[in-house]
Amino acid sequence: MKYDFDLEISRKETQSAKWGMVQDSNNPSLRHAVDDYFGPDRILPLWVADMDFAAPQPVVDALVRRAQHGIYGYTLRTDSYDQAVVGWMKRRHHWEVEPGWIVPTPGVVPAVNFLVRTFTRPGEKVLIQRPVYYPFFGAIENNDAELVSSSLVLDHGRYRMDLFDFEKKAADPATTVFILCSPHNPVGRVWTREELGRIGQICLEHRVLVVADEIHADLLYKGVIFTPFATISEEIAQNTAVCTAPSKTFNLAGLYTSNIIIPNSTLKQRFQQTLNSCGMGNWANPFGVLACETAYREGEPWLEQVMAYIEDNLDHLQGFIESHLPAIRVIRPEGTYLVWLDCRGLGLDKWALRRLMLHKARIFPDEGSIFGPEGDGFERINIACPRSILTDALERIKRAVDGMRAT
Ligand SMILES: Cc1ncc(COP(=O)(O)O)c(C=O)c1O
Repeated sequence: MKYDFDLEISRKETQSAKWGMVQDSNNPSLRHAVDDYFGPDRILPLWVADMDFAAPQPVVDALVRRAQHGIYGYTLRTDSYDQAVVGWMKRRHHWEVEPGWIVPTPGVVPAVNFLVRTFTRPGEKVLIQRPVYYPFFGAIENNDAELVSSSLVLDHGRYRMDLFDFEKKAADPATTVFILCSPHNPVGRVWTREELGRIGQICLEHRVLVVADEIHADLLYKGVIFTPFATISEEIAQNTAVCTAPSKTFNLAGLYTSNIIIPNSTLKQRFQQTLNSCGMGNWANPFGVLACETAYREGEPWLEQVMAYIEDNLDHLQGFIESHLPAIRVIRPEGTYLVWLDCRGLGLDKWALRRLMLHKARIFPDEGSIFGPEGDGFERINIACPRSILTDALERIKRAVDGMRAT
């Protein structure tokens, strides 16, 4: 089936967080009425990572059939579900997962919190690579651990790891966990096998457990290869908990279904004990498990088409910015539908940049500074939307920047 991603689907009355929660952080008490977002002067939300596209048709059909059944009682995760996860990892990423390694959780963010809680003691350090997905900060702080960043380096328009600094921080005996974001949100790097191998080895040498958040693994641009962290070596696999989910891939985030894959049975058992201690031992959501299994079995044609569309959006954005907004630099992602824009050339501080985007352009991206101080002067925009919305957003930014120059 051919999907039409140009179609603008109104998300009004769906309680969409993306469209209903545009908040002016200059004045947090001020929240626009939801209708503001759907009129001609609506603020365009280009922030949180969900797509403005309908999920694959087989998933929609399966959910409609299930909804019509009418009984939504407690649900089991079946062998068939596990096999769908196993099949996906093998087909798409050449990763041989055993069903016994899978622990389902209601989302990757809860899982990262539970993993930090399981594998650190109060006061121990958790290593991250800022600028990075900001809920990692909360997962560390919520669980009484201490955050330490080996920040990424922007080198000729491309981010890289500073392995020397990484090793220094991993070698601190207080550092016990490293949260890897692979592919990396927000900078869009799909780490190479060599890069992953080096940090995997450093973590082994210094007894640092790796939590690999691979939620964006399926969202790759042409010619880019993703390496699952646990495929690098058996030793590295035994030192890793991998967070996976169909939610970014197929736009199912509101169904809260993810699969944490832990090849080391002792680590898996400890993680499972944490979930049990929170009453979440047998978690399964009837719509989430059905959507996940259906997407992994039948969603590939949709995924191929959506990534081709998003890549065209990326080319469109890059072309527009290069032609009309020379003070902004696109850090071209290798994966994810999130684009990291270097806006430092505009010469604005974070407050003025916010005013420009939200008040003048009336668009709502994620401000770079929320990903850590390394993100000051950057903006992250979500391009998983119809081209008409993206074009509107780009033209608004151009008008706002032109207006800034004129005053
Ligand atoms: C790196 C990363 N991890 C996790 C999540 C969210 O995961 P979940 O919705 O399963 O909690 C996101 C969403 O943007 C993300 O970018």
